[in-house]
Amino acid sequence: GENLTILGIESSCDDTAAAVVRACAGRGDVLSSVVIGQEALHADFGGVVPEIAARAHAERLDGAVEQALVQAGLRLADMDAIAVTAGPGLIGGVVSGVMMAKGLSAGSGKPLVGVNHLAGHALTPRMTDGIAYPYLMLLVSGGHCQFLAVLGPGEFRRLGGTIDDAPGEAFDKTAKLLGLGYPGGPLVEQEAQDGDAARFNFPRPLLDRPNCDMSFSGLKTALRRARDHIIAEKGGLSVGDRADLCASFQHAVAQTLAKKTARAIAAFRDVAHSDAPVLAVAGGVAANQCVGAALRDVAMAEGFEFLAPPLKYCTDNAAMIAWAGLEQFQAGHVDDFTLAARPRWPL
Ligand code: KG4
Ligand code: ZN
Repeated sequence: GENLTILGIESSCDDTAAAVVRACAGRGDVLSSVVIGQEALHADFGGVVPEIAARAHAERLDGAVEQALVQAGLRLADMDAIAVTAGPGLIGGVVSGVMMAKGLSAGSGKPLVGVNHLAGHALTPRMTDGIAYPYLMLLVSGGHCQFLAVLGPGEFRRLGGTIDDAPGEAFDKTAKLLGLGYPGGPLVEQEAQDGDAARFNFPRPLLDRPNCDMSFSGLKTALRRARDHIIAEKGGLSVGDRADLCASFQHAVAQTLAKKTARAIAAFRDVAHSDAPVLAVAGGVAANQCVGAALRDVAMAEGFEFLAPPLKYCTDNAAMIAWAGLEQFQAGHVDDFTLAARPRWPL
C-alpha cells in the first residue's frame, strides 16, 4: 500500500516501548508512542540492572502494545507489519520483545521485521524531518557513541566512535561520584550551570589521533582524583566545587565530541556526497545544551546543517523502530520465525 502503517516494539535497555507509525509524504506520522521508563527501578543502583530490566519488560510489554494500538485508534489487523528491536542490547529485554513480536505476527499473519536498535536511532531524522540520504549521524547516548554515514535504510558506514565508555555513562558515573542521583546527565548539566569550566583541566584522550575514535573512561578517573584531592584538603565538597567539577567535566566531553565531529565531517566527505549536507544527532546526551551548542558550531563552520530531532525521538522509543522497520520493509526486508535476539549486532 501507499501509506504503510507499522507497529514498533522496543525493549533493549531500560525503556519498554511500543508505537504506531504511518508513512506520510516522505516522513513518518507518529500515531502513538508509548514509553514506560524504569528509572525508579534502577535509581538505587546508579545504573541499569539487567535482571531487573528483563523482568520489567516481560511484565509490561503487552500493556505497552495495547496502549499504542488504542492511542492510535487502530487494531493489529490494520498494521502492515510488526517491527521489533532484535539487538543490540541487554539480552533479556531483547528476547522478551522478539517473542512478543513473533506471537503477534503468528496470531495476525502480519509480516515480522527485526530491526537493529542503532538503525532505529540512525533513521530517526528521516522520520521526523524527511531528510534525504546520505547524511552524517552522531549517536551519543548512555550505551553508544559513534559516527555513522547513513547511506540507505540498511546501509551504514561506521566512521569511528568510543573505544570504551559512552558519554552518557560518563555523565552517570560523574553524578554517582558527586552524589547527585540517576540518571546523571540532566543533574550534572544543572550543577554545571554556575560552574567554572576552566578550573579543572580534564583529559581529552585521542584528540591527537587523526581518526574519529574517542575515549571517555579516563575522565571518571580524573574526576575522582580531583574530587578526592579537594576532600583531602578541605574535608568535603562545597557547592562551588561541585559546580566547577561538573562544568569542567561537561566542557571536556563537549570539546572532545566537537573536535571529533570535525574529523567525522571530513571522513563523511570521503565516502558520500551531498549538496545539502546534514549532521544529525540522536541519543540522550544530545539533550545537553553545552554539547549541542558545540556540535552546532562545528557543523555551521563546515557548511553542514545541524539537526536535532525532538528529544522524545532522540532517546529510546519505539517510533524509531517502527520507522526503521517501515523503511526496511519497503525495501523488501522481512524476517521469519527464526529471527534471533542478538546481544551484539554491529551495523
Ligand atoms: O538515549 P538514551 O535515553 O538511552 C540510551 O542510552 O540508549 O540516553 C540516556 C543517557 C543517560 O546516560 C543520561 O545520563 C544521558 O543520556 N543524558 C544526558 C542528558 N540527558 C540525558 N547527558 C548529558 N546531559 C543531558 N542533559
Ligand atoms: Zn538507544
